[in-house]
Amino acid sequence: MELMQAKMPLRGEVKIPGDKSISHRAVMFGALADGTTRVTNFLQGADCLSTISCFRKLGIDIENTQEEIRIHGKGLHGLTAPTEILDTGNSGTTTRLISGILAGQNFTTTLTGDASIQSRPMGRIIKPLSMMGATVESLKENQCAPLQIQGHPLTAIHYQSPVASAQVKSCILLAGLYADGVTSVTEPYLSRNHTELMLSHFGAQVTSEGTTASIAPDPELHGLDISVPGDISSAAYFIVAALLVPGSEVLIKDVGINPTRDGILRVCKAMGADITLLNERTAAGEPVADLLVRHSELHGTVIEGELIPTLIDEIPVLAVLAAYADGTTVIRNAEELKVKESNRLDIMVNSLGAMGCDIEGTDDGMIIRGGKPLHHASIDSHLDHRIAMSFAVAGLVSEGGVEVLRADCVDISYPEFYADLGKLMK
Ligand code: S3P
Repeated sequence: MELMQAKMPLRGEVKIPGDKSISHRAVMFGALADGTTRVTNFLQGADCLSTISCFRKLGIDIENTQEEIRIHGKGLHGLTAPTEILDTGNSGTTTRLISGILAGQNFTTTLTGDASIQSRPMGRIIKPLSMMGATVESLKENQCAPLQIQGHPLTAIHYQSPVASAQVKSCILLAGLYADGVTSVTEPYLSRNHTELMLSHFGAQVTSEGTTASIAPDPELHGLDISVPGDISSAAYFIVAALLVPGSEVLIKDVGINPTRDGILRVCKAMGADITLLNERTAAGEPVADLLVRHSELHGTVIEGELIPTLIDEIPVLAVLAAYADGTTVIRNAEELKVKESNRLDIMVNSLGAMGCDIEGTDDGMIIRGGKPLHHASIDSHLDHRIAMSFAVAGLVSEGGVEVLRADCVDISYPEFYADLGKLMK
């Protein structure tokens, strides 16, 4: 797909789709609750549809009217053995969170996903789930999917996670629902806490202290009505586009601004961005606001440490922003980017380099010497939705635009992305 330069400022309002992380969890926890859970503003992206499909195979009746999702939960012990392999598609969240649930069942499940999922590290969940007493086998013996998970009565553990990962933390907390005592996870930095917030709303006893989250077993979970906030990770492309295209002013509506997810706002402000939060409120226990973003002159910054998990999925598009900011931006402690849907570190360094950016990869991040014009290039998405959207934004301000190859992968998290971007360019 050829994406042209924005010759005019971006103007208007955009309402971005529901949060991917929250949409997944609404389906999963709704399945484990008694009664019906109704979800509005659910993200109808391929990843969340994979979660729905897996839970249907586990015996849960889920209606998808497009307007809302209705999950007819069967309680903590109501899942039934699937008759076929569960396909988690491209979704790491589905794969890792469902594994925690499956570890506590009295049946065996096999699950797998696409080529990307089959190369992503699952040792990080195999280890703690095995410590809890589940039998989790990587069928190709490479610590990746396909996984065969034999559920067992589980033993509560305290797990010191080597990575700040909400997927790992959530996997263990979900297994903890089926354990014989309080299960807890400590991570090096706090990762997104949607599992803790939403499970509490469903009726679980979850406590958080610093970077440790704990859960008591065997709660009674009750169906809920959930209105999913807009995904700040999807809003990120419009934030960066509006900051970069001269004269732009864009209102991004109903965006989730949970402090474990809002690192992009903090970084943009540190770079000199003009972003105003309007209409701040709470929805389903999650803070929400409208974001008014205006074109700004930006300068480089340092992105590292505890900030990293709060903006982990936004680093590709922040690298684009940094390429246009004056001075140097240094990104450190971001080695997790190598094991996302693609190796986002290598791809960003090579692809921004192909556009003429002065960028250097490091072991755990990158150094970007920004402020020079970038030129046209053909960039492969590597079937990674966030790479495709980041380069669509880069194309708005590069000389001659950008051609994004295999651009349709935005379906994973934002099927209407190109249409919504187009509306702001009219
Ligand atoms: C997610 C957690 C993050 C993030 C992913 C969604 C979640 O992964 O990159 O897109 O919903 O829990 P890690 O927690 O493994 O970093």
